[in-house]
Amino acid sequence: MTLDARIRNLILATAKDHVSFYLYDEVTLEDRIRRLRSAFAHEQILYSIKCNPHRAILNKIFSSGIDADAASLGEVYAASDCGVPSDHIFYSAPGKSQYSLEHALGQCILIADSLQEIQRIEELAGKRNMKVTIGVRINPDFSFTSATGSPSKFGIDEREFLNALPRLKQLQHVIIIGLHTHIRSQELDWQVLFSYYENVFALAGHIQLALGTPLLFINLGSGIGIPYTATEHEVDIDALAKKLEQLRFLRQDTLAQARVLIESGRYLAGPCGWYVTHVVDTKTSHGKRIAILQNTLNGFLRPCLEQFITQIAPAAAPREPLFYKNGSTPFYVLNEETETEEVTLYGNLCTAADLIAKDMVLPRLACGDVVVFPQAGAYSASLTPFQFSSQVPPAEIYCRREG
Ligand SMILES: Cc1ncc(COP(=O)(O)O)c(C=O)c1O
Repeated sequence: MTLDARIRNLILATAKDHVSFYLYDEVTLEDRIRRLRSAFAHEQILYSIKCNPHRAILNKIFSSGIDADAASLGEVYAASDCGVPSDHIFYSAPGKSQYSLEHALGQCILIADSLQEIQRIEELAGKRNMKVTIGVRINPDFSFTSATGSPSKFGIDEREFLNALPRLKQLQHVIIIGLHTHIRSQELDWQVLFSYYENVFALAGHIQLALGTPLLFINLGSGIGIPYTATEHEVDIDALAKKLEQLRFLRQDTLAQARVLIESGRYLAGPCGWYVTHVVDTKTSHGKRIAILQNTLNGFLRPCLEQFITQIAPAAAPREPLFYKNGSTPFYVLNEETETEEVTLYGNLCTAADLIAKDMVLPRLACGDVVVFPQAGAYSASLTPFQFSSQVPPAEIYCRREG
């Protein structure tokens, strides 16, 4: 991961006016959209708004023919405001409130997350005397790495759904037309992703057979990751898409009517963002060098969470959506210093939890130095609690192609 000269210059120019900010780069975003769309030319791509709902990003993505994966009523409205038609907005989330269901009905395709929710949709649609076509999120009997499932707060267990189908087929107002699965994000091995796709297609075949009517969409969810550490690599999406094409061909007799949907959040938005902050103080304490940065835990949560987790439970499995683990928050120091020092970086909040990186060997830091975190376009501003300590939050700056 290197910082290219154009981005470096943009960052340095913007850093003159802002102590901390996110820079979102349209050129990079367009490149990510083009790559994903050209690989998956036959699939419908959905953008997972939760990873970055910045309006300029939504406008760019949705005007490029990508549809919406909404995780709340607010995200349904955001997609709708950007001109996404209601049958191209897929609202999937656990525990939708009654208010959300009432207001979302008719504004999007609802993906039911429990049997109870299907019943609530049936009753709502009944009151409005309408028929509603929905998808169901299934918690399958497999995972990315094994042939068994596990308990999950997301979706309806495969077995429970199949058992309930005879009853669901009798509903008067709800018609099930689609399947949604999502097991995990941030997979970098295309072969692991493909074997997951194979399992989902097999599951779709079973469900369609039991349903007795054609599935009109199969949403494969997300999974395609991005590199966060120096040793990680981009997913070979062309290889993945090619194998998916073959899979669709093999299944065309049974699942001919089903559109295939792929969700993406971080693949599109992650690499188009950089978080930028400044060193606001330096000191030596009991022989240790310390640098203090503006807005970290309350500006860019990821490094603090990474420190927190890896200190408490070094072997903990990475958790969605951050996938924190040692070394997953690389950063650059933009100064001309040639001497190095061992230094620990903290944020400027009154809590010891605001720790960014311990005992790093870096060019000697001084007040005013600019520190840059790449891969900060997804799950960064949207996941950070800006309110802590009533500081001014970082700016979010979208840089258009024309500069
Ligand atoms: C159901 C679902 N879809 C899509 C995503 C987006 O995943 P990613 O940003 O890794 O592409 C997530 C992430 O948590 C998710 O839970």
